[in-house]
Amino acid sequence: MQTLDARLRDIADRMNAALDQLLPRVQGPEARLLEAMRYAALGAGKRLRPFLTLEAGAMFDADESALLRTAAAIECIHTYSLVHDDLPCMDDDDLRRGLPTLHRQFDEATAVLAGDGLLTHAFEILSDPATHRDPQMRCLLIAGLARAAGAHGMVAGQMIDMAGATVAGDMAAVARMNRLKTGALIQFSVEAGALIGAAPDDARHALTRYATNVGTLFQMVDDLLDVEGAAAETGKAVDKDAAAGKINLVSLLGVEGARQQVRLLAAQAKEHLALFGSRSKFLSEAVDFIVERRY
Ligand code: IPE
Ligand code: IPE
Ligand code: MG
Ligand code: MG
Ligand code: MG
Repeated sequence: MQTLDARLRDIADRMNAALDQLLPRVQGPEARLLEAMRYAALGAGKRLRPFLTLEAGAMFDADESALLRTAAAIECIHTYSLVHDDLPCMDDDDLRRGLPTLHRQFDEATAVLAGDGLLTHAFEILSDPATHRDPQMRCLLIAGLARAAGAHGMVAGQMIDMAGATVAGDMAAVARMNRLKTGALIQFSVEAGALIGAAPDDARHALTRYATNVGTLFQMVDDLLDVEGAAAETGKAVDKDAAAGKINLVSLLGVEGARQQVRLLAAQAKEHLALFGSRSKFLSEAVDFIVERRY
């Protein structure tokens, strides 16, 4: 049996190859845009969302190619969200995945457009019959990704973050922001695997609950890494959130309180997998990986 590390590496390799193949090639007068899209998407991401899609789908023997293409679409959205999140008008960051952020490497207009290009390309991938022969399934995937990424999902969460709209001390509002800006896409990553695998209702519900917990704890660990991490490991600047006046669960609960909450969410996430037994081994181990990650 593969170890989780090997499985994560294997999926990251396959995702990189899929993105390399699916992203538009560099040519013509718009070459700069396409080069920028590739620069952002082919960087050293952990590919955790693709991992979740592939693992959730594998439990129901879902078609591998459908899973991989759907995961690539999700990763395009995730990458676009990072490109825009790093812009001077948002978090104003210079380092991403160990390299200069897209607007530093190219320029701001190119970064905005490359983000737009990646966002749109995700839906082109999903709408292609090569993703799934059943048009209804393709529509469900498109609608699901749109909801997770759009104005009732990630983009809403980013708006709340940017507006500093969470009042100090309002834990519920901060938890909602995390659920939207990070949880929604993570939840869809898991749900897409279950959807393509035609998982039964009880399994889908359990996976959704797992994903909800993972989404929240994922952002909390990201916020903890901003306080405790090192840029040499995270590949992005640290010690930024407090300076920028961001209110998050770490600033509200303190480092120890947040760690405790992360442990609680991790235990809950794993409990939701109980009905799958050993089939969910990697999804369960991935929770510990996310909790203990240094990058
Ligand atoms: C970072 O996501 C942004 C958040 C939603 C917290 P990841 O930690 O998954 O970033 P990559 O893809 O591995 O670079
Ligand atoms: C980003 O949260 C969430 C997104 C939807 C992009 P952060 O702003 O904390 O992510 P990092 O720390 O820049 O990766
Ligand atoms: Mg941000
Ligand atoms: Mg940021
Ligand atoms: Mg962060």
